[in-house]
Amino acid sequence: MTVVRQAIPDDAADMHRLATALSLEGRDMQSAQNTGFFLYVGPEEHYRTTIESSPCCYLALNEQGHPVGFLTTMTPEGVSKFPNIRSRDLFFKNGKYPLVLEQIGVSPHAQGQGIGQAMLDRLLADWPRERIVATVVLQPVRNIPSIRFLEKNGWRMWREIRTEMRIWGFYERPSVSPGPRQIGSRTVNS
Ligand SMILES: CC(C)(COP(=O)(O)OP(=O)(O)OC[C@H]1O[C@@H](n2cnc3c(N)ncnc32)[C@H](O)[C@@H]1OP(=O)(O)O)[C@@H](O)C(=O)NCCC(=O)NCCS
Repeated sequence: MTVVRQAIPDDAADMHRLATALSLEGRDMQSAQNTGFFLYVGPEEHYRTTIESSPCCYLALNEQGHPVGFLTTMTPEGVSKFPNIRSRDLFFKNGKYPLVLEQIGVSPHAQGQGIGQAMLDRLLADWPRERIVATVVLQPVRNIPSIRFLEKNGWRMWREIRTEMRIWGFYERPSVSPGPRQIGSRTVNS
């Protein structure tokens, strides 16, 4: 059975190794479209900093206790500190920054077994109400597994950003309304 646990800074090396195996660099387009991919993989130190600064980062372990997947996020505070105002603005909506799902990755040989789903479920349990945004590469290679995965979980394309070399899809999971509240004898929608 897969176990999903909160990441600790010492997991940075495993995350970096898992991410490198999914990097687009050096792969043919067909294999990248079959397994999904990361356009850019930062240094190990980046993963350590991310784990230290965001409470919602996870590692998935298989029955033998080997890491087979990871998920990292960036907090709204982190996004609000982007040095570049334009990048910051890309995420801003209704006066707020979202939690950003930075990377979710499952080892190619362990995909299709519900591990990605288990990590996403854990994230949604820990961050149930606020909006979450994920960016997905649409061009030069369309990240089809990732799009299907997000759409199956109710995420929708929020905006499309074109840069000189690429097209990005910003997918969002809208914040979940806390639902009707009872005030006195009246029921109001929040
Ligand atoms: C996206 C990713 C994390 C999914 O992980 P996974 O463990 O294979 O996904 P799961 O087995 O939990 O699948 C959950 C659902 O997602 C959908 N899905 C996942 N991979 C899919 C694929 N290749 N094609 C179609 N649908 C897919 C399915 O609907 C599946 O539900 P089902 O089992 O009821 O059919 C994985 O493909 C991955 O690591 N991709 C590479 C990195 C990446 O692209 N990350 C996203 C950008 S940040």
